[in-house]
Amino acid sequence: MTALVSPSVRSEKPSQAAPIIRRAWIEDIDAVRDQVWGLAQASSTAPRWSDVAYREYLALEAARSDIQAKVLFIACVQTEPIGSLVISSENARAARERVVGFAALSAVPGAGECALDNMVVAESWRKQGIGTRLLSASLLWCRAHAGSSVWLEVRASNRGAIALYERAGFSIAGRRPGYYSEPVEPALQMRKLLGPVA
Ligand SMILES: CC(C)(COP(=O)(O)OP(=O)(O)OC[C@H]1O[C@@H](n2cnc3c(N)ncnc32)[C@H](O)[C@@H]1OP(=O)(O)O)[C@@H](O)C(=O)NCCC(=O)NCCS
Repeated sequence: MTALVSPSVRSEKPSQAAPIIRRAWIEDIDAVRDQVWGLAQASSTAPRWSDVAYREYLALEAARSDIQAKVLFIACVQTEPIGSLVISSENARAARERVVGFAALSAVPGAGECALDNMVVAESWRKQGIGTRLLSASLLWCRAHAGSSVWLEVRASNRGAIALYERAGFSIAGRRPGYYSEPVEPALQMRKLLGPVA
């Protein structure tokens, strides 16, 4: 595992254009796993997972409709060219990218249900529409996996995230007392029904 560089330390914004949103693949694992884990660890409201938990989201694409599929979308900015450092073609793209946000999703296509399992944008990159763009990419993936509904859990006090999800068409479908720890707090369950594409 490469050394973790906390996103709070790397808070400077490069001058480049808006981050691109793309899917992370298994070959990205060494470059993105620590960054994604670090983003979640730096957030007090996102679910805390082990760093290895993210591997599944890079590697688990279902070939059969009864098996769970997972995906990780990342928001990336290009960092400065690496100067004299010699890099191979395999790691060239990852070495030039910094992850400033991610969304992790799972789906059981046979059941028609998808879940937004985690989503974080680096603090210094928030309120620029990145969360909304990650959510849009996520909902497209859910549709592609025959999802008829998308579920998520969110801390009941996380007003910003709840507002974002409501704007995207999610509504509160339930409440789970004591779902979160540190601090202990209920979760709101939110659901969005995916109608047919017009
Ligand atoms: C929830 C979260 C992912 C949202 O990410 P984001 O990139 O800030 O989301 P957006 O920019 O799309 O929207 C957030 C707000 O910015 C506003 N916004 C969007 N683009 C903007 C822009 N160009 N200029 C100013 N404001 C903008 C939106 O209107 C929205 O406003 P609101 O705060 O009044 O609701 C982010 O706050 C986060 O990472 N939180 C910590 C982790 C977390 O709680 N995750 C949810 C787990 S369930």
